[in-house]
Amino acid sequence: MTAFSQIIAQTFVKQVEFHADIGSTNDRALDLAAAEVSSETPLLVWALQQTAGRGRGANRWWASEGALTFSVLLDTRDLGLPQARWPQVSLTTGLAVCAALQELLPQAEIGLKWPNDVFLHGRKICGILVEIPPRQSGKLIVGIGINVNNSLTTAPAELWPTATALCDASNRTWDLSAVLIQVLLQLDQHLQQLVVNDPELPESWNARCFLRGRLVHHTVGDRITIGMCQGVDQQGALLLQTEAGLSRVMGGVITKWE
Ligand code: BTN
Repeated sequence: MTAFSQIIAQTFVKQVEFHADIGSTNDRALDLAAAEVSSETPLLVWALQQTAGRGRGANRWWASEGALTFSVLLDTRDLGLPQARWPQVSLTTGLAVCAALQELLPQAEIGLKWPNDVFLHGRKICGILVEIPPRQSGKLIVGIGINVNNSLTTAPAELWPTATALCDASNRTWDLSAVLIQVLLQLDQHLQQLVVNDPELPESWNARCFLRGRLVHHTVGDRITIGMCQGVDQQGALLLQTEAGLSRVMGGVITKWE
């Protein structure tokens, strides 16, 4: 069985599009979402190499050979996921990645860094980019980049202190399609939890919350809020205890933590 038929047989993915090389899997998924011909969803766009991988805002996503980079095009109407819960897809996806990586490295310390990163032993191993295609089609794109066999020794020097890869943490290489299947299985399971509004989900965001108990700088434009992180609320907002009281933040970026 090929990796693609295994993905279709074992996970919720109905269609796979594979690229040896592409600009960005999220861009490709956006094009597919906009196309006249409707695609069977969930549709996986998987690339071995991205030349223009995107992160949140204006950020680029570094990924050399050996990285796992893919996007899943979802139809929220088929999933039964109401629009009111779309803002929680990013954290829920992060949780799915945490669970998948924990299966692979049971002893590792894996945390969810609000709102869209996964940290392994205090360093970023995965970034998530959830995007809504422009037309109101009910479609959502979940883009995931995980450093798997792309050792940080091949990364730009500025990433060395803050990022890691699965191979660096375990001193071995991994079968990319096996890691991908593990993540897809967990993604399906966690999205189902979001669909039924499972109260365990916010508990798990908090149990995995990397920022909890840390002094955090949250930035939106010129505005910086500094506070002690108290975790995440039911809606997925970050809770910061500031000098002025409890602040609830959605959007923006965490620019510093101690
Ligand atoms: C971030 O850390 O800000 C999010 C990074 C998301 C990267 C992934 S890699 C697959 C998908 N395609 C992209 O262009 N970006 C996402």
